Amino acid sequence: MDAERNPFGAAASADPAAGNGRDRVLEEIAVRIDGDTDIVSARQKGRVLAATLGFSSSELTLIATAISELARNIVLYAKQGEIVLRVLERGDQRGVMVRAHDQGPGIPDIRRALQGGFSTSRSLGLGLPGVRRLMDEFEIESRIGQGTTVTARKWKR
Ligand SMILES: Nc1ncnc2c1ncn2[C@@H]1O[C@H](COP(=O)(O)OP(=O)(O)O)[C@@H](O)[C@H]1O
Ligand SMILES: [Mg+2]
Repeated sequence: MDAERNPFGAAASADPAAGNGRDRVLEEIAVRIDGDTDIVSARQKGRVLAATLGFSSSELTLIATAISELARNIVLYAKQGEIVLRVLERGDQRGVMVRAHDQGPGIPDIRRALQGGFSTSRSLGLGLPGVRRLMDEFEIESRIGQGTTVTARKWKR
């Protein structure tokens, strides 16, 4: 998986080395995203889950913000989808994974979307570049007409 491979957005990853079966899942919560209230709920559940790992309150806010951005994108662009939240273990590290999945229209140009300044909704949020910045690992897979999956992880230091 690499970000340059497919100009039509078939698959792209900002972090090809990440994940890939190396992570042990210690806990998992799935939140169905159907509307605005689910954004708040996903955000709160992610915050509570990450708090169990001892993240600082400012880190918890960053993680919660990333969850909101991804959930909001689902509501805005795909109408519905799912956010999966996990507590992970990789070697001696523990962290959280946020995976946003939908079967919406897909992102035509992932590279452009990740560069920012490419908004179809003129929102003032941090957007995908912001989520990438806030988290340690970030991957997008998107297919036109089939949907989008964004996976982000943050490790406890
Ligand atoms: N889940 C998604 N499904 C389809 N398109 C998306 C999705 N998430 C983001 N996009 C597209 O990528 C663009 C950039 O997203 P983002 O960085 O969150 O900025 P914003 O939501 O403010 O436009 C969006 O404007 C939209 O066109
Ligand atoms: Mg957005």
